[in-house]
Amino acid sequence: MGLSSLCLISVSIYILSTIVLFHLVVANSLQSYNTPTCHDDEISALLQFKQSFVSRKFASDYEGAYLKISSWKSSNSCCSWDGVECDEKTGHVIGLDLSSSCLYGPFGSKNTLFSLVHLQRLNLADNDFNFSQIPTSIRNFPRLRYLNLSYSVFSGHVPSEVSQLSQLSSLDLSQNDFSSNKELLRSLAQNLTGLETLDLSSINISSTVPDTLANLSLLTSLTLNHCGLFGKLPRRIFKLKNLKVLDVRDNRALTGYFPDDYSVSSPDLMSLKLSATNFSINLPSLIERFHSLKELDLSSCNISEGPVPFSLGNLRDLIYLDLSYNKFNGQVPFSLGNLKDFIYLDLSYNKFNGQVPFSLGNLRDLIGLDLSYNKFNGHIPTAMLGNLTQLTYLSLSNNYFHGSVPQSLFNLTNLQTLELDHNSLSGTVEFQKFLNLQKLTDLDLSNNNLELLSESRFLNNATTVLPKFEYLRLGGCNIREFPVFLRSQDVLSWLDLSGNKLQGQVPKWMWNISTETLSYINISHNFLSGFEKTPACGGNFSANLEYLKLGNNSFHGNLPQSYTNGSNLRTIDIGHNNFHGQLPRSLANCASLESLVLSHNKFNDTFPVWLGALLELKILKVDHNVFYGVILKHDKKNLQFPVLRILDLSYNDFSGQFPFEYIFSGNGTTTITHDLEYYLIYSFSSVGYYSITIICKGVERYYPRIPEFIGKLEGIWSLNLSNNILTGRIPSSLSNLSGLESLDLSHNKLSGEIPQQLAQLDSLTKFNVSHNNLTGPVQS
Ligand SMILES: *[C@@H]1O[C@H](CO)[C@@H](O)[C@H](O)[C@H]1NC(C)=O
Ligand SMILES: *[C@@H]1O[C@H](CO)[C@@H](O)[C@H](O)[C@H]1NC(C)=O
Ligand SMILES: *[C@@H]1O[C@H](CO)[C@@H](O)[C@H](O)[C@H]1NC(C)=O
Ligand SMILES: *[C@@H]1O[C@H](CO)[C@@H](O)[C@H](O)[C@H]1NC(C)=O
Ligand SMILES: *[C@@H]1O[C@H](CO)[C@@H](O)[C@H](O)[C@H]1NC(C)=O
Ligand SMILES: *[C@@H]1O[C@H](CO)[C@@H](O)[C@H](O)[C@H]1NC(C)=O
Ligand SMILES: *[C@@H]1O[C@H](CO)[C@@H](O)[C@H](O)[C@H]1NC(C)=O
Ligand SMILES: *[C@@H]1O[C@H](CO)[C@@H](O)[C@H](O)[C@H]1NC(C)=O
Ligand SMILES: *[C@@H]1O[C@H](CO)[C@@H](O)[C@H](O)[C@H]1NC(C)=O
Ligand SMILES: *[C@@H]1O[C@H](CO)[C@@H](O)[C@H](O)[C@H]1NC(C)=O
Ligand SMILES: *[C@@H]1O[C@H](CO)[C@@H](O)[C@H](O)[C@H]1NC(C)=O
Ligand SMILES: *[C@@H]1O[C@H](CO)[C@@H](O)[C@H](O)[C@H]1NC(C)=O
Repeated sequence: MGLSSLCLISVSIYILSTIVLFHLVVANSLQSYNTPTCHDDEISALLQFKQSFVSRKFASDYEGAYLKISSWKSSNSCCSWDGVECDEKTGHVIGLDLSSSCLYGPFGSKNTLFSLVHLQRLNLADNDFNFSQIPTSIRNFPRLRYLNLSYSVFSGHVPSEVSQLSQLSSLDLSQNDFSSNKELLRSLAQNLTGLETLDLSSINISSTVPDTLANLSLLTSLTLNHCGLFGKLPRRIFKLKNLKVLDVRDNRALTGYFPDDYSVSSPDLMSLKLSATNFSINLPSLIERFHSLKELDLSSCNISEGPVPFSLGNLRDLIYLDLSYNKFNGQVPFSLGNLKDFIYLDLSYNKFNGQVPFSLGNLRDLIGLDLSYNKFNGHIPTAMLGNLTQLTYLSLSNNYFHGSVPQSLFNLTNLQTLELDHNSLSGTVEFQKFLNLQKLTDLDLSNNNLELLSESRFLNNATTVLPKFEYLRLGGCNIREFPVFLRSQDVLSWLDLSGNKLQGQVPKWMWNISTETLSYINISHNFLSGFEKTPACGGNFSANLEYLKLGNNSFHGNLPQSYTNGSNLRTIDIGHNNFHGQLPRSLANCASLESLVLSHNKFNDTFPVWLGALLELKILKVDHNVFYGVILKHDKKNLQFPVLRILDLSYNDFSGQFPFEYIFSGNGTTTITHDLEYYLIYSFSSVGYYSITIICKGVERYYPRIPEFIGKLEGIWSLNLSNNILTGRIPSSLSNLSGLESLDLSHNKLSGEIPQQLAQLDSLTKFNVSHNNLTGPVQS
């Protein structure tokens, strides 16, 4: 599954969980009890429990979280304390609900909580227990019926004592850092025969699902999402008469079929989530079988090409449907308009074509609609959209929509995210129209044929209240001037003005907007030539800036000389400009720098050995400049470049020998491999977009997002030293670079034999050593 699909899935989960949380809160506030007298020992146990944690706002994520235990004061009425429930007759504490209570600190097995042996319900969800283990003293609660430790920063093994709590009817250990022995499911299935709800999401169980799990005849909700499960999901699960929720998402190696016999399928199944599994899915028969479905998530299930059956319209209760990342094609059935209670519909990343059926205008409760990455064409249906006034999330990006941006869009006042990018929309858009959409935080209009007009007289006066944007992507919108309304934007984190018609100088105030939050600026592919009043860019970057893209403009002059220690810059791309002179040595202070692209300028300097100490630098492209001289002179110990992946020094005047033995000594290249996945997710995808031009396999290619192959690479994988004046031999140690895909040493003065060990490099697909003075055979 693509990384960006994870993002999408989490968006949808977010929407739904917000709704669920809302219901929980309403339900909780309706409880009220008589107040019996508490037992002294239990009061003191609770007060000591209170002492054992500190309160920290960050320890809980739920917005309405507060410190419940702050109201606990020494008195004999502990039964009235917030979160405490007593038995009306005996006065014993039987329930403790401290979910979302901002508790922070380790949870020890000697905690006085474990003396409350009458507990039947314990909810500690959404706190931060600082990677504590579940204490084995949990066995002190033999009467426990409800246990919820979800999302509370526990870690370690799930202790076997949990499976001794034989009265449990609800167990939720989800969203922690647990691992488990492979027997966890088996022992739970054997002992906890009264289980109705089981949620072990994100526990690394890494086993098959035992057939005995289907012995839990009372099970109504089974959630085993992201557990590393494999093998077949036992078909008997679908014979569970009470089963309403089955969620086994994100277990790639989990297979399964629905039983052949319709009559045995769980008749009341309401929520079925099989996303990112290997389940065999026949959509028409699934619809026929489970007609009570409210939620259906089949995202990324490898469902083969074909249309969505018309019968989908028979699932009258459906409110949530995710079919994204499959190969559905044809038209979206008109019958979807029958499903009037729909809240969330995601059809993205398929091959749907034709027009969007206007029947979708019946789905008046829709909150999220994602039709992106398909082949929809025609106009954006104006009247239909005008009905969908509840929408908070609307993405139509990456389709073939044409015509103008419909005015009815500006009636959707609840919109928070609006993505229309990568279509063929045309005409003008007056930015002041967005004043109607006060909740809008993410707007993407990039890559259409639109002309965005932002007249400052409407947008920059005291009476105007603009939406507060976080992500603003206005690439290729024919913008001619830096929009003045940007000056008042103070929570922007992402700003893309690339590919417009900006010319002249970058105004000083541009470096002064959203200084607390801005992490990405892209003003590449314009006609900019300089910076107002400062000699060059960035004298005053906001301290949190991470991505700076100024490429493909006409900037000239020197780079500014000061980059402070505190710099968070991770990407600097100033390629394809006319910068000249020396590189500022203070770039070495940018300790977070991962990618530095200086290609196609006129920098005249020696090799930046002094960047070798940057522990994160993965991409260094200085090609097409006038760098000169011997790459290694004195300073050998600095030559580390411990995690470099891409080095492009081509088309310069480097001379002398290339210090292979120092730059790629193997130290770095063996230690970085574990880090690779993390790096890709973190720096390429968490922010959604990343693009790079890579010269690979002889072709310069532009990757708008992560190239598929990048995950397989180990160590340096592209080395281009061509078109210099390098001398000396090619060292056989190059063959240690087991991930090397592309090696270009052409047009130099290298001599000696071509090392035969290079033939061991399975991964090498481009190898160019032409125009040197080399000898020896070349194996293909
Ligand atoms: C949480 O764990 C970290 C690392 O073990 C430790 O430094 C810190 O003091 C702990 N916090 C508390 C409140 O105990
Ligand atoms: C556990 O608590 C969390 C947070 O309050 C809640 O979202 C979840 O539904 C609870 N789990 C169960 C099984 O009740
Ligand atoms: C089942 O529960 C009994 C009694 O509580 C306990 O002795 C046994 O170890 C448990 N079995 C498993 C597999 O946890
Ligand atoms: C899960 O556990 C298995 C075996 O215990 C291990 O091989 C695997 O790497 C773990 N997966 C993750 C994501 O930690
Ligand atoms: C549990 O299921 C298995 C089949 O998977 C069956 O043989 C066994 O008798 C069942 N055990 C109980 C206690 O029902
Ligand atoms: C808007 O919703 C109403 C009521 O659901 C429906 O009758 C009408 O056809 C819808 N309009 C469009 C254009 O879909
Ligand atoms: C926008 O909403 C107003 C008031 O509900 C309505 O009169 C108008 O026709 C709508 N405009 C569009 C283009 O749908
Ligand atoms: C300020 O903007 C509003 C529209 O938002 C406009 O009606 C008004 O004329 C503007 N005021 C001035 C002084 O330009
Ligand atoms: C930058 O912002 C500060 C505070 O908002 C303001 O005082 C200063 O004048 C601004 N500078 C420029 C060049 O806009
Ligand atoms: C590069 O700089 C050196 C030393 O400052 C100078 O001699 C040389 O002419 C410059 N080359 C170019 C192409 O500007
Ligand atoms: C490689 O590692 C060895 C042993 O840790 C160390 O002595 C050597 O200096 C390292 N080489 C480089 C270039 O960092
Ligand atoms: C090429 O290398 C040979 C020895 O391998 C040497 O004799 C000859 O001078 C070299 N030619 C050039 C142009 O460097």
